[in-house]
Amino acid sequence: MEPKTSHKGFGSRLGFILAAAGSAVGLGNIWRFPYLAAKYGGGFFLLIYLILAVTFGFTLMLTEVAIGRRTGKSVLGAYQLVEKHCAPMGWAAAVIPALILPYYCAIGGWVLKYMTMFITGQGAQTAEDVVTASGESSSFFGSFISDLGGPTVFFIIYVVLNAAVILLGVQKGIEKVSKILMPVLALLIIAIAIYTATLDGAWEGIKYYLLPDFEGMTAEKVFKTIAGACSQLFYSMSIAMGILVTYGSYMKRDFSLEGSVRQIEVFDTAIAFLAGLIIVPAVFVFSGGDKEALNRGPGLMFITLPQVFETMPAGSLIGAAFFILVALAALTSSISLMETVVAAVMEKFRLSRVKSCIIVFGITIVLGMLSVLGYSAWSGVTVFGMQFLDFFDFITNSLMMPVLALATCILIGWVVGTKYVEEEVLHGEKKFGAKWMYRVMIRFVCPVFMIIILITPFITDI
Ligand code: PHE
Repeated sequence: MEPKTSHKGFGSRLGFILAAAGSAVGLGNIWRFPYLAAKYGGGFFLLIYLILAVTFGFTLMLTEVAIGRRTGKSVLGAYQLVEKHCAPMGWAAAVIPALILPYYCAIGGWVLKYMTMFITGQGAQTAEDVVTASGESSSFFGSFISDLGGPTVFFIIYVVLNAAVILLGVQKGIEKVSKILMPVLALLIIAIAIYTATLDGAWEGIKYYLLPDFEGMTAEKVFKTIAGACSQLFYSMSIAMGILVTYGSYMKRDFSLEGSVRQIEVFDTAIAFLAGLIIVPAVFVFSGGDKEALNRGPGLMFITLPQVFETMPAGSLIGAAFFILVALAALTSSISLMETVVAAVMEKFRLSRVKSCIIVFGITIVLGMLSVLGYSAWSGVTVFGMQFLDFFDFITNSLMMPVLALATCILIGWVVGTKYVEEEVLHGEKKFGAKWMYRVMIRFVCPVFMIIILITPFITDI
């Protein structure tokens, strides 16, 4: 099958790597990875995560990028071109980012609010409790999201920022923005990590984060650690969101596929690791070594961390740097989501980039407002017992994405054969170093891991 390169793609290999790394590095790296690592025995989790990244993550990421590059199509056309009965996979790969983008932008709006508060010197307020209109005391975060106006304004600003980059196109928009933002993000995170390491008492936290904790290690705990690391990795590498196929379709055929995927993987893991080096010791110092403080899910980033910054010397500056970092990480991820949907709409309906962008912008605003309203005016409304945001998160992350990834493994491993990907890797490269590992992983190991990811949320509390 001859490749069709219908898009104007990335101009350089570095541009592709930074854009894909920009997609991979997101909120998942910054708040989710550190608290999972802390929860599942520190160094032990890190070790398992690392092994999974170079095997499981590598295999899935390589597969998607190869499908994109070989077909040169957006997700809707790509899966169908691999196998004509696979059109539904293409639809799933377009619907998933269309459902994630709106709620991700709602969270992006919260991040923008915090960033603005810290930059304008009002960061301390975010650490305080406030009295709400009904006379109850609530965290700043709780009262901010339960108000309709603020979150709506910041949500809309955030979506407009995304759309602006998408409108500029792949090279002038996504590639350029990633080439500027990603190095800034890397420098910021290194600087903040060095600073937190110098705080009094940070060492205890660093030890807790890095040294494996085998105490009370049972078979069940090991299983949970592996399942937790697997699903974190899967989300962190932006797998089964259609993104890697789309970005792959913009990649020139003479760029090294294997090497690029390895570099994206290293970048993503390094940023997650550094985020842990900031958050675990910082929260440790603040809470006097209370491990529970790390276990607060989303509240960790919006409630605990501002309190931590509040107690630090130069805390407002660090807080501002931190929230700029989070905003950059979130922005490059949501850009990749939006591009995937816009590319699919452009190809399917033969529309211009501007028109597709307007359509996707409209859908994002409408669906995203459901998540914004779900915390405020419509806080009583639930879908299957979940708030809108949690509902969208659940159907995409826990259901649709693992199913799509499993289907992709079966498609390449068993239906069209691993040659499909291998040939693409060998295009312009002499050797596929990890060929044997790839074959075993895609046919046997990855499907099993995907099934584990799919069933664990239903059988445990991960
Ligand atoms: N990889 C992102 C992260 O770690 C997740 C993500 C990517 C979410 C792209 C949305 C879009 O946070």
